[in-house]
This record gives sequence, C-alpha cells and structure tokens, in this order.
Amino acid sequence: MPTPNFPGLLIVFEGIDGTGKSTQARMIADWLREEGHRVVVSREPTDGPFGTRLRESASKGRLSPEDELQLFHQDRREHVETLIEPALEAGEIVLLDRYYFSTMAYQGARGFDPAEIRRLNEEFAPIPDLLILLDVPLATALDRIGVRDGDPNEFEQREALHHCREIFHALPDDFVRRIDASQPIDAVHREVRAAVTPLLARTPHRG
Ligand code: TYD
Repeated sequence: MPTPNFPGLLIVFEGIDGTGKSTQARMIADWLREEGHRVVVSREPTDGPFGTRLRESASKGRLSPEDELQLFHQDRREHVETLIEPALEAGEIVLLDRYYFSTMAYQGARGFDPAEIRRLNEEFAPIPDLLILLDVPLATALDRIGVRDGDPNEFEQREALHHCREIFHALPDDFVRRIDASQPIDAVHREVRAAVTPLLARTPHRG
C-alpha cells in the first residue's frame, strides 16, 4: 500500500531488546507535548487481545512460529484499524514502540523471509515517516536485559538477537535514522529530537 497522505506523522522506534526504545519514546512524547503537539504513544505487541496472548505465550511457553507470526499480524491489523490510522487521520503524531520491522527482525530470526513479511505488512500498515533505529552492541544489549554468560538459554538468545540486529541493520530506507543508543540517555534524546524536528514544520498537529 502506498503511504496515504495522512495529515498526522508516524514515528517508529525499533531496535533489539535493551536499546531503550520505551524510554526514548516517552521522552520525545513529553517534549512534543510541551511544544504544543498532539501525541499518541503506543506499542506492539499491544495491550489488546492478540497482543496479550503474545505476551502471555512469551512467559508460559512459546507458540509455533506460524501461530506466532499470525498473531503478530492480527495484533497489528487491529492496532492499525483502531488506533494508528484514526490518530493519523486526526492529524496527531503517533509514536510507536515497535512495528512491523520487529516482525521482520524477530520472526526473520525464526526462519521467515523478512522481505516477504515486509510486503505482507505494507499491504495494510502505513509506512512510517521516520524510523528511529536504536542501536547498541550485542554485548551491551545482553547485559542490559540481564543475560549472563552460562545462563541456560544464553546461546540461543545471543544468536537470535544477533540475527535480529543484522536484519535491522540491513533496512535500506531513507526514512531510517540509526542512533547509537549506548550513549547516555540525554545524548540519545538529543539525537532523537534532531531527527524528529525537521518533520514538524510540514504538519498541522498543534493542539
Ligand atoms: P518488548 O517491546 O520487548 O516488550 P516488553 O519490553 O514490554 O516486554 O516486546 C516483546 C517481545 O516481542 C520482544 O522480544 C520482541 C517481540 N516481537 C516480535 O517477536 N515480533 C514483533 O512483531 C513484535 C512487535 C515484537
């Protein structure tokens, strides 16, 4: 689907676990609101029924890769229909903590073709105006999420996140802005602000 001409702005935060996406999304949301913009912050998996099942399955034992992929897509369809598109149509700034690039990376690491995942998603999910890719070295990410050498599934987690990180790095688009998220939180925030600021001039979302 070509990006519709929504009056709003879609800004997505992506990166492997431990890169600080939620913190940065919250900080930029606070700043945008102080500047007078109307902002909606959301995340995937969502807190809706499909997203809740995905979160529960992560703690209770995993779904099959096929069922998991299907649930991520159902969750996203619902997210697009009920929150993302209405907010964009109303001229708001939508900030997302994860989106279909996470499906490319994580389900790609489980064996699906990232390009095919992207194609399927872009049939129904609006393409972002800006994708902020927060990047830290793998060792930093593992340390931040508490994976230690010798943990029972340390090897699998390391391999999976390594693969995800490579898929994120291979995203070729001009709407991707990669930021070194191993810097202090405020330094990362300043770079996020610098990436977001040029988009604000052409949009009418002041509240
Ligand atoms: P995460 O943002 O880490 O949630 P929280 O910190 O609140 O637990 O997301 C949970 C996990 O879901 C994360 O490991 C990445 C994974 N995920 C996918 O595998 N595919 C997807 O499409 C999305 C959106 C997330």
